[in-house]
Amino acid sequence: MLSERLKTIASMVPESDTLADVGCDHGFLSIELVKIGRAKHVLAMDINEGPLEKAKQNIAMSGCSDQITCLLSDGLNVVTTTKLDGFIIAGMGGRLGLKIVYDRRDLMPLMKWAIISLQSELDLVRLVLDEWNIKVISDITLKDGKKFYTVLKLDFEGVNIKDCDDIEKFFDEMNDKLSSMDVSHKALYRYGSASSKEYILSELQRYESIKKDMINKGITDLRVNEVTDDIAICKFALHN
Ligand SMILES: C[S@@+](CC[C@H](N)C(=O)[O-])C[C@H]1O[C@@H](n2cnc3c(N)ncnc32)[C@H](O)[C@@H]1O
Repeated sequence: MLSERLKTIASMVPESDTLADVGCDHGFLSIELVKIGRAKHVLAMDINEGPLEKAKQNIAMSGCSDQITCLLSDGLNVVTTTKLDGFIIAGMGGRLGLKIVYDRRDLMPLMKWAIISLQSELDLVRLVLDEWNIKVISDITLKDGKKFYTVLKLDFEGVNIKDCDDIEKFFDEMNDKLSSMDVSHKALYRYGSASSKEYILSELQRYESIKKDMINKGITDLRVNEVTDDIAICKFALHN
């Protein structure tokens, strides 16, 4: 059965002729997208052979092999078609997701949309999307089991991804920019404009317990300041 997270992602995908499911793993999302009529054709892509083989088996069992092409690929690197409407990147770290977009910046002006659901550094992700002029048209946080997931739907009209010498250095610079922001901007980038209060509250409790632990262990260095900052960001996001 498809998880709540993958069902939500599938429901946000516009009807498309061809789309890419980057890091498809088991292929369940690709299969769902064909079955619910969101995609006529899916490129199910993964960097690892093991998951891709599993995806091939699942796709064959689902009877969708004619509509899903499995490709071994680092990100979107093997894409040659210009007929891609959009792509999905889900279940990866924030930097990796951004790097996959950056590595095929040549393709991005052709895209109509993307759905990204990344699992770390969401403040960096939102800031870099702003820098690249990629608009967030929907920003939701959902709970699946005990975990929270954020899903962003993106619009690529007017996208402008500039070349840089070192993408990791660019991400570090963006993180420095985030650090120098006031609490209201930090909260906006970290939790988005309409984030779930339940999620922020759970983050607040997590940071408060980390801080308590540090104090009990006698830790008094920079890490305490960082977690104090995290608590202030949560409180601001909760009350605004
Ligand atoms: C945690 S799974 C997520 C699977 C699915 N997208 C989901 O959200 O349930 C991450 C998948 O991404 C693949 N992956 C990691 N780095 C990748 C890259 N650079 N390009 C393509 N796939 C990648 C992994 O092999 C793995 O199958």
